[in-house]
Amino acid sequence: MEKLALFGGQPVYQEKHSLEDQWPVTSGEDREAVERVFRNGHFTGLHDPEVEALEKEYAEYVGTSYAMAFGTGTSSLHAAVAASGLKPGDEVIVPALTFLASATSVIQQLGIPVFADIDPKTYNIDPQSVERCISNRTRAIMAVDLGGLPADYPALKKIAEKHGLVLLSDAAHSMGARQNGKVSGSLADATGTSIMPAKQLATCGEGGLLSTDNVEILNKAGMVRLFGEVIEKDKPRAYNAFTLGYNYRLNPIQAAYARSQLARLDQFIRLFQENAEFLTRGISDLKGIIPPYIPEGSTHAYHMYRMRFDPRLAGYDVDSGRFAKAVELAMIAEGLPLRFYQNIPVPGQVLFQMKEGFGNGIPWSLPNTNAIRYDIEDYPVTLDVLENTRCLGASGTSGPNYFMNRKTMQDYITAFHKVWEHLDEIVDYAGKMEYKVPWSNFAPSTRGSWTIYAPGTKK
Ligand SMILES: Cc1ncc(COP(=O)(O)O)c(C=O)c1O
Repeated sequence: MEKLALFGGQPVYQEKHSLEDQWPVTSGEDREAVERVFRNGHFTGLHDPEVEALEKEYAEYVGTSYAMAFGTGTSSLHAAVAASGLKPGDEVIVPALTFLASATSVIQQLGIPVFADIDPKTYNIDPQSVERCISNRTRAIMAVDLGGLPADYPALKKIAEKHGLVLLSDAAHSMGARQNGKVSGSLADATGTSIMPAKQLATCGEGGLLSTDNVEILNKAGMVRLFGEVIEKDKPRAYNAFTLGYNYRLNPIQAAYARSQLARLDQFIRLFQENAEFLTRGISDLKGIIPPYIPEGSTHAYHMYRMRFDPRLAGYDVDSGRFAKAVELAMIAEGLPLRFYQNIPVPGQVLFQMKEGFGNGIPWSLPNTNAIRYDIEDYPVTLDVLENTRCLGASGTSGPNYFMNRKTMQDYITAFHKVWEHLDEIVDYAGKMEYKVPWSNFAPSTRGSWTIYAPGTKK
C-alpha cells in the first residue's frame, strides 16, 4: 500500500495544472469577437450593438422575453431587487449559504435580508425555512442556485404566489442548468447572473445579465442601469432622471466575448456533466462520500461539485467535521485540493453582526422595520454543511477548471481511493489533530463597544 502524501509519501498529482485546464477557454472565435470591437471602435454607448446583440441572444438562450446586460453580476442583482418594487425596510428572504452579493444587493436598495436555512441534500434554500421567515414586511425571495443546481423553484413559486411576493433568482453558478425543461435564468420573475471569468458563462472581465418576462421589471432595471433615465431607441436622450440610477453598463469587449462563449455554453456544460458523472461513478464504491444530489427534473451545471463526508457510513465513530478536515488535508497533500466555499453562514459576517450598513444602522434602523436577528445557530443545516462538505471546482478568479479534463477526474478518483485505503490512519489523525470549526476564525468576540457573536471552537 502506498504511503499517504500527508505522512511523507509520493503525491498522486505532482505536475502543475496546465493551461489546457484554464478557464475560460479562449478560442479563435473569442479572439475574433474581441477584435471586432476594436475594428468597430465602439467602446460604449446607449445602444451598443455588441451589448444589444448579447441581450437578444441571451434572452433567446434562456427563453425569457427580455434580457439586459450589466457591468457585474452584483449590479444585475441590485437592479432586479430595485425593479421588484422593494420599499426601504422591506425584507427579502435569502439563503444563509451563498455569496455575500445575494444579500448585499438587497441592502443596496435599503432592504433587509432575512436569512433562511438550506436543504441538507441540495444545499439550496429550504422552502419550509422560507415559509418560517415570512413577515408583514416580506417583499421578495432571492433564490440562489448554489454550485450550479437550480433551487426548488416550483415550491418557491407556490410560496411567492400564496404571499404575493416577487421571486428573484441569483443564477451566478447555474448558467446552462435546466429544471423541468426550462433553462436557468428563466425560472423566476427576474434573474440576475454573473459572467465574471470563473463562471460557467464567462467573459474576459466583469459582467452580469438580468433576464425576465416582465416588461415593467425590465424598464425599471433599465433606469437603475443608467442614471435613472429612460433611454428610448431612436429618440434623443432626455437627460432627465426619474429615479436613483447608477452607471452599471457592460463594456462591448466583454459583451462580444460573452456572445462567443454563449454559442459554446451547452457544449461546455455537457463536458462538465460527463466528467462530473465520471467522478461520481469512480468514487461510488467509497463508503462515506456522498456526491451531489440531483433531484428529478433538474440538471447541474457543476460550477462546484460539493461532496459530503460521513465517517459513520464508512464504519467509523469519529467527529464528522474532524473527518472531513482530515480528508481535505490528505487530498491537498496528494496534490488534488478540495475547498471550502464560504466558511460562515452569510448572516455571521461582520456586516450583519454589526448592522452598520450605510451608517446609523440603516437599513435596519429605518422606521417600522422588524427587529431582525442574525445568529448563526439559527442555521443548523448551513453550519452542518459548512463543516462536513467540501467542494471541487471553480474559485473566485480565472484559473484551472477541474471539470474540463477527464485525466484530472481520474487523478481525483485515484487519490480518493488511496486515501480510503488508509482510512484507519485518517481517522486516527482526525482524532488527534488540532481542529476548529470553519467559522471560528470569523468571529472577533468584541469590537469597540459592540459585542459580536462569537461561536468559538466546538471541541
Ligand atoms: C452566487 C453569487 N452571486 C453573485 C455574485 C456576484 O457576481 P459578480 O462578481 O459578477 O458581481 C457571485 C460571484 O461572483 C456569486 O457567486
